[in-house]
Amino acid sequence: MTSTPAIPRHIAIVMDGNGRWAKARHRPRSFGHNAGRKAVREVVEGCLRQGVGALTLFAFSSENWQRPEEEVSALMALFLRALSKEVDELHEQGVRLRFIGDLDAFSDTLQKSMQDAMKRTSDNDRLHLNVAVNYGGRWDITQAARHAARAVERGEMRVEEIGEATLGKWMSLAELPPLDLFVRTGGERRVSNFLLWQLAYAELYFTDTLWPDFDQTCLQQAIADYAGRERRYGRTGDQVARSRNPAC
Ligand code: IPE
Ligand code: IPE
Ligand code: MG
Repeated sequence: MTSTPAIPRHIAIVMDGNGRWAKARHRPRSFGHNAGRKAVREVVEGCLRQGVGALTLFAFSSENWQRPEEEVSALMALFLRALSKEVDELHEQGVRLRFIGDLDAFSDTLQKSMQDAMKRTSDNDRLHLNVAVNYGGRWDITQAARHAARAVERGEMRVEEIGEATLGKWMSLAELPPLDLFVRTGGERRVSNFLLWQLAYAELYFTDTLWPDFDQTCLQQAIADYAGRERRYGRTGDQVARSRNPAC
């Protein structure tokens, strides 16, 4: 009973639960973040196998700067380490890596490392992997609005031309297929300022599994759940059924 292909074209994941995973093992929170790297490899592998075209991972929110300094530094060090260790393999696998968010807040070294990785993998298109860092959905909408305002200021467009389609073009991920499936691990049922605009018609999937325990089987379960959804986009179930089989 679905009007869309069984495999989502674009999956976004809030990778949550690292801290609790570490706490259960009497280890520091950074231990959980490090353990989460394996889960990232698992979902990338799973998406490549199942033919998912785009994967967007929430790695660090604009609100996460409020965490203890020790944890923030550990996360920055982890990002740098992960970039130096994982990019070769991602490149070999045909993954295009992109970072979305306000990157200016990061150290020069980290920014350079992110830019290098993006440039190096820019011709790949087997899987579009987007990592959201210092990202907030409200920031994304705001920066798109700023683009529109600048275009008006330069006389390139009229205020009346600002609409969902024009504004949408300036939102992060605009060039990728629309978000089909949103997954959050770690048991919380909230969006936490992730892709607010892009989530408009995504299917939502929540699991109690903590991020470091998430693997390809868990991803398969999320995809199977998605495949059973009926996406109506405002229409009735009967209309959706008829559009699947116009003969009846
Ligand atoms: C998500 O795991 C990772 C980041 C926010 C960087 P958490 O660190 O939020 O883990 P919990 O929610 O405290 O268990
Ligand atoms: C959301 O998780 C951000 C990331 C996973 C990167 P949080 O753990 O920061 O979200 P809240 O604070 O529980 O809403
Ligand atoms: Mg959390």
